[in-house]
Amino acid sequence: MLGDFSYSNPTKLYFGKNALDGLKEELPKYGKNVLLVYGGGSIKKNGIYDKVTAVLRECGKTVYEDAGVMPNPTVEKLYEGVKRARDAKADFILAVGGGSVCDYAKAVSISVNCKEDPWDRYYIRFEDVAPDCKIIPVGCVLTMVGTGSEMNGGSVITNHAQKLKIGHVFGDNVFPKFSVLNPEFTYSLPKYQMTAGFFDIMSHILEQYFSGGDDNTSDYIAEGLMRSLVHSSEIAVKNPTDYEARSNIMWTATWALNTLIAKGKTTDWEVHMIGQAIGAHTDATHGMTLSAVSLPYYKFIMPYGLKKFVRFAVNVWGVSPVGKTDETVAEEGLQAMEAWMRRIGLVMNISDLGVKEDMLDGIVKSTLIMQGGYKVLTADDVLTILKNSL
Ligand code: NZQ
Ligand code: ZN
Repeated sequence: MLGDFSYSNPTKLYFGKNALDGLKEELPKYGKNVLLVYGGGSIKKNGIYDKVTAVLRECGKTVYEDAGVMPNPTVEKLYEGVKRARDAKADFILAVGGGSVCDYAKAVSISVNCKEDPWDRYYIRFEDVAPDCKIIPVGCVLTMVGTGSEMNGGSVITNHAQKLKIGHVFGDNVFPKFSVLNPEFTYSLPKYQMTAGFFDIMSHILEQYFSGGDDNTSDYIAEGLMRSLVHSSEIAVKNPTDYEARSNIMWTATWALNTLIAKGKTTDWEVHMIGQAIGAHTDATHGMTLSAVSLPYYKFIMPYGLKKFVRFAVNVWGVSPVGKTDETVAEEGLQAMEAWMRRIGLVMNISDLGVKEDMLDGIVKSTLIMQGGYKVLTADDVLTILKNSL
């Protein structure tokens, strides 16, 4: 454990079948005007909307709605949400949905009282929230598992005109005040979204795991999380209402990206940068953009972090190293990951997401280059990885 760090996480979690009871404890702490933010309507079909609004009524709140948050929320929707929150004089924002809804709620919360254009300030210049900008507190009721947005400061916004999808990871003043995590609320997810979320979790862990060469407690935690995810995901794809599997996955997702396993590490995040660039050009489902490029990416960087790939193969996938070269062990680890990805039905090629060869140069231009992994990529490297992902 070589890196220096500080650690705190201010988000209170309510987990389990009765987690929504936590909302009754939390809402009285905030003002009367609540902006209820949700997506395209799934919460009306599965009954979560009725359950949440019943609690809001019971707590005597005046509710203003901001519906229609799309997957991969756009900057135009953000501007609309800011206006709604201002008109409502919102004291509190309640996000009910997946990562898109939670991310969007955070973006609105820090933009309502922002004197500048929030896209320019937060997503182009990567500046923090100004000290004199009052942040509207946010709470989440999570309905889709994967992003970790329920317990982190991440907020990803897409600007289609600029062909950019950018995530800003804010400090703990932007984290949700609380999140309600009821695994049963995720049962109605279509299989495609469910498995995309599973790979998003895996990718978050890999992005943090594949960096550094020290002996780091974070990596041991990461290995445990990956093993739990692989085990439970196989059960969940066969039986989506297996509570034990779905609850383990929900808990794993939260710990995969709530800053814990990044402690003491540089972390990589290049797969996410390539995935987000693909998202900016195709609007594809986040988790699938990651699954489609991960194997070509990890094969490409494997020689630069070989020892860690050997450890990954042995500790996560149970590959026996006896009598084999490091290269062989490392390759068998990635083969085991590929077999798992195919078993749970992930998208394995970017062409399946609508990417054509003539789009690759544009995607390269939209890809941010990170410094913390085993190889700092060049633009040519990104192009090679994308070609290998077609
Ligand atoms: O809009 P509705 O009708 O609710 O439908 C949604 C949406 O179509 C549906 N859904 C959600 N819960 C459901 C459900 N359908 C039926 N039953 C339910 N219980 O699922 C679809 C996808 O939802 P979305 O919120 O877009 O998915 P996800 O949670 O994967 O969020 C993706 C966004 O989060 C960002 C991504 O880039 C993307 O913009 N990320 C946020 C991160 C963070 N905050 O730290 C990190 C991640 O790496 C990621 O980048
Ligand atoms: Zn992700």
